[in-house]
Amino acid sequence: MPFLRFILFLLLRLFAASQAFTGTYGVNYGRVADNLPPPESVVTLLKANKIKNIRIYDADHGVLTAFNNSGIGIVVGIPNEYLTGISVSTDQALEWVKQNVEPFLPATPITGIAVGNEILAGDNEILSEVLIPAVINVYTALTWLQLSHRIEVSSPHSEAVFAQTYPPSAGAFKESVLPYMVPLLQFFSQINTPFYINAYPFLAYKNDPQNIDLNYALFGRNSGTYDAKTNLHYDNMFDAQIDAAYAALEKVGYGAMEVIVSETGWASKGDENEAGVNLSNARTYNGNLRKRLMKRKGTPYRPNVAVKAYVFALFNEDLKPGPSSERNFGLFKADGSISYDIGFTGLVPSSGVSIAVSFKLPIASLMALTAMLVRFL
Ligand SMILES: *[C@@H]1O[C@H](CO)[C@@H](O)[C@H](O)[C@H]1NC(C)=O
Ligand SMILES: *[C@@H]1O[C@H](CO)[C@@H](O)[C@H](O)[C@H]1NC(C)=O
Repeated sequence: MPFLRFILFLLLRLFAASQAFTGTYGVNYGRVADNLPPPESVVTLLKANKIKNIRIYDADHGVLTAFNNSGIGIVVGIPNEYLTGISVSTDQALEWVKQNVEPFLPATPITGIAVGNEILAGDNEILSEVLIPAVINVYTALTWLQLSHRIEVSSPHSEAVFAQTYPPSAGAFKESVLPYMVPLLQFFSQINTPFYINAYPFLAYKNDPQNIDLNYALFGRNSGTYDAKTNLHYDNMFDAQIDAAYAALEKVGYGAMEVIVSETGWASKGDENEAGVNLSNARTYNGNLRKRLMKRKGTPYRPNVAVKAYVFALFNEDLKPGPSSERNFGLFKADGSISYDIGFTGLVPSSGVSIAVSFKLPIASLMALTAMLVRFL
């Protein structure tokens, strides 16, 4: 009997692991904007482009309702400002899951809950302290609701958690991050959660254009870099950043944990002083990234683990603060047209008259309009 239970446990684990991500390509659906298409149109857009995984940064009920029966896997997010409350009370965690996840299941395939975003090595020490208790409370709540086998609890990190990423084998966490990172990894390894990293060759290049070959950052033709310790050659920075994460994990005893890229991307427009930001570089990065992911290949250091990534982002987001690049990461513009051609089709053609308006006209007013026209004729 214990043996059977163990097998069942393994099967559930396998099931959970394969549920969380379909294929290798996903997109972050950020909504810090006042001009985006309604979520129902976003479902149409994603389906037309066969995008099967998305992440949102909250648990907006309008979005979750629109994705009912869409078959598109969604990771929802608990925003950083909720973490303190959730960390002190399992009841609050339970309440959050009951309100924001449970009612939408199973028709809206919520596959994961990201607890906070880029907390460790950020500027808020208190958030670092509450992260682990918050993660544990959310997991406990899912267990009580018998949902922990199909909803993955995770927490994405920024590159700031690393002291070093070059060469990849030198990848290591910052000393200051270790007291939080190690127990977090310990818990995540117990519940089979991968390591999620927001990895941006875009930012690395922008911060150091003198020393980085743009083609290395863009998956273009270049001589690449050589890692003497592992004797591995890297022809693009994206793979190198992932392997630096594997190296850092290995150094603290979690080398077997899978690394998934929770964000990566390239802005198509920026300010004068933002190196490497333009339309053609964005198209090159995102086009090459898509091809790279479609090959379902691993990295030089983990050749058998196909890389999975969520692109940042689905749309340009006009209300994002910061430099212009922040508002121009979208594969699509706010009107639903493509930002540049990497093989996706938009809701509306890139140029010409937008037909998006007609989606918004309620049937009733269309009928009234028709009736009026009929009278006139
Ligand atoms: C989702 O669709 C199903 C019908 O397939 C319906 O029963 C259910 O109420 C819907 N859920 C939401 C949250 O709209
Ligand atoms: C984009 O920037 C690259 C350098 O980062 C430059 O070589 C290229 O000509 C630029 N393309 C356009 C269309 O401005």
